[in-house]
Amino acid sequence: MMGGMSDYHHTYETWRKDPAGFWAAAAREVDWIKPWDQVHAKVDGLDRWFVGAECNTCWNAVDRHVAAGNGARTALIYDSAFIGAKTRFTYAELRDEVATLAAVLSDLGIAAGDRVLIYMPMIPEAVFAMLACARIGAIHSVVFGGFAPAELATRINDAKPKLIMSASCGLEPGRVIAYKPLVDKAIELARHKPQAGLVWQRPQLAADLAQGHDHDWAGLVAAARKKGHMADCVTVKATDPLYILYTSGTTGQPKGVVRDNGGHMVALKWSMSNIYGIAPGETFWAASDVGWVVGHSYIVYAPLLHGATSILFEGKPVGTPDAGTFWRVISEHGVKALFTAPTAFRAIKKEDPDGNFIRKYDLSAFRTLFLAGERADPDTVKWAEERLRVPVIDHWWQTETGWPIVANPVGLGQLPVKYGSPTVPMPGYDVRVLDEGGHEVKRGDLGAICVKTPLPPGCLPTLWGNDARFRASYLEHFPGYYETADAGYMDEDGYLYIMARTDDIINTAGHRLSTGSMEEVLAGHPNVAECAVIGIADALKGQVPVGFVVLKAGVARAPAEIEAECVTRIRDEIGPVASFKTVMIVGRLPKTRSGKILRSTMRKIADREDWKMPATIDDPAILDEITTALKTKGMG
Ligand code: COA
Ligand code: AMP
Repeated sequence: MMGGMSDYHHTYETWRKDPAGFWAAAAREVDWIKPWDQVHAKVDGLDRWFVGAECNTCWNAVDRHVAAGNGARTALIYDSAFIGAKTRFTYAELRDEVATLAAVLSDLGIAAGDRVLIYMPMIPEAVFAMLACARIGAIHSVVFGGFAPAELATRINDAKPKLIMSASCGLEPGRVIAYKPLVDKAIELARHKPQAGLVWQRPQLAADLAQGHDHDWAGLVAAARKKGHMADCVTVKATDPLYILYTSGTTGQPKGVVRDNGGHMVALKWSMSNIYGIAPGETFWAASDVGWVVGHSYIVYAPLLHGATSILFEGKPVGTPDAGTFWRVISEHGVKALFTAPTAFRAIKKEDPDGNFIRKYDLSAFRTLFLAGERADPDTVKWAEERLRVPVIDHWWQTETGWPIVANPVGLGQLPVKYGSPTVPMPGYDVRVLDEGGHEVKRGDLGAICVKTPLPPGCLPTLWGNDARFRASYLEHFPGYYETADAGYMDEDGYLYIMARTDDIINTAGHRLSTGSMEEVLAGHPNVAECAVIGIADALKGQVPVGFVVLKAGVARAPAEIEAECVTRIRDEIGPVASFKTVMIVGRLPKTRSGKILRSTMRKIADREDWKMPATIDDPAILDEITTALKTKGMG
């Protein structure tokens, strides 16, 4: 009944009947050095794509377009709302930048399979760094700049990078953040010691370089350029890792999501035309950060693999300088589609409820707004639809998958929008909603959202160095399925609704955070006996974390002092990105008789939702104490 004009149903059926044929056809859109022996195979018990094939991702993202005569086309536009920069790089220029930097990396002893950690702000060099690694087969691991040294150290210990590429500073509204001292601190904390550092000095703040360890990025690149020293694309296996991206797990130990080369290229290239409806040469803007999966996939790899123009935006939706910045970027650079998190729109809506800034710009070339990363609340979606007069498309995916699981595929022909639903499963994803026993629930009933294995190309084949954790985290709970850890339901038309996480992950301003890891940090405070962190509703950020701590017996210090120390601790150990600002000292935590903390009841009280006294509660009076504590902070 739905979407008569869309090719979606036909395309999905084509995939379902012959997945291998479907992906083999999609794979013709990229260059291979050697074709695959098998489109899909189990290797060491893991699902792998394009087994036996050889390729290079940088070739396909950069050189291929130059070779095809499109070297003069714009590949990347760097627009910084902080410093007013607007710099364009053609594909030919990008190729030279990347090949030269790759030569510098090779000279520093970096070879295929080595890990390189990238801790950088949103500047072109961050993109060059990722592509230079891909060019020589090195595995990059980009860490978001809002993470603190301790988080960086955890990633250094796990990925064991030979080299850290960083910049002297990042820019946030009203302040310059020195990055290099954060990197130095992380190396000091880490057990693994990288051999060297390569530092891009930004004019806003110079960093001190450690003699014998750190190298001046610009200096080495200039010297290589003078000699015309460039590195060629090396041959890697389709199944070799392209990158590791750490994402929050349920403990303080983040999960190292591995992305391969071959399947990743095929899936992302397919998504650009079929999901996002973008043609090569058109301009696409993902307003995210290269430290997140959206940045990896849709600032860097997908637009470039597609021969499109990608915007690298350094700034915020509001305050740099105003709530019209997004519209300025769209009109100045002819952006056809914008992809961002609903939070960004909530921020704009708050500053400019009537959309006055929107009317100041010519947005006639703008076609589609895509939202993901957190629930798109219908109010925000409708506000954007009415003001922008373009389709607003919610879509759902995860760091693990690398590209949309469920979307409204504009490229195939848009399906009717249902508010609150990211629409329908994309080819490659057989999405099922299961009960605890692993049986499919009826349409409309809530359950665990799972994807029948194998996951399609582009999704994680495993976790870095930890196949066992990969299986335990995603595959073992529902045999035969990948567990997304999101709960929701599917309606009669096959539209999916994402309702909640089934684990301790919360989404703050589109950033994925683990409350469990925050609890680990708070528990480390010398005065804290036990604690709980929950995510509560926030009008701007979607959710923000709130902590409850019980002090050790006999601690007689001023509560406000301890609370402030808890806030500082999370900022220092996880980072400002956690947005952890509220903590309260309570006498006891509500628990079940078996000792489980009743976090979801606490959350309901804080969010002023209806709640029932849990039958298994040990002492109901404690919930009154929690309610009182929340009220003293103006919540609940
Ligand atoms: N380096 C260092 N610090 C950073 C940082 C970075 N790259 N990014 C954010 N921070 C800091 C911020 O300055 C802020 O610090 P503060 O507590 O001192 O104010 C803190 O981390 C929290 O950042 P954030 O949650 O992003 O809040 P914000 O108030 O700076 O901005 C929004 C709010 C909504 C404008 C912003 O989050 C946004 O644009 N989000 C949507 C887009 C997006 O990035 N989505 C991600 C995936 S698609
Ligand atoms: P990340 O790995 O950071 O991309 O976060 C993935 C998680 O964000 C998902 O598992 C969901 O919980 C949430 N999420 C992402 N997109 C959406 C969406 N469109 N609607 C609801 N939740 C979403």
